[in-house]
Amino acid sequence: MANNTKNHSGMPNEHLHELFVDELRDILGAEKQLLKGLKKMATKAEGENLKAAFEEHRMQTEEHVERLKKVFASINLSPRGKTCKAMEGLLNEAEEIIENFEDAAVLDAALISAAQKVEHYEIASYGCLVTYANLMEHREAAELLNQTLEEEKNTDTKLTEIAMEEANMAV
Ligand SMILES: [Fe+2]
Ligand SMILES: [Fe+2]
Repeated sequence: MANNTKNHSGMPNEHLHELFVDELRDILGAEKQLLKGLKKMATKAEGENLKAAFEEHRMQTEEHVERLKKVFASINLSPRGKTCKAMEGLLNEAEEIIENFEDAAVLDAALISAAQKVEHYEIASYGCLVTYANLMEHREAAELLNQTLEEEKNTDTKLTEIAMEEANMAV
């Protein structure tokens, strides 16, 4: 494996191909799992801005799924996802947090904490995927993946702002 520098299809850094596809399948599964989670978080959030942010990101997440399908198509593969165990765990924790803090003044702060853990997982995943796509010179894939990466980062920033301005503050 380590010595496998053979270039099967004329693609640079071909050794990254399987890892790239595996990670694409993982994040496709993760995005689909997250759709449900964001719906629940939007329903539970008390602050209007937080509710709207979750709802907006749920719609973006639908686009992320569509974009991933285009990424698969750009490398001539059918879009097959797999269950993302990390997302499963993060969403289980989010459920737990909702149960534990449902009637508390800190519910929104707790929801933001859970959502930011999700966003950071996605940022790490898309960051690696963009790097791999660039190294293999999959230009279209790199561009699509980078668009999603930017949206994940913006969501994370927006959640921090809501936390600092509203959710973490005593009323
Ligand atoms: Fe996403
Ligand atoms: Fe996200």
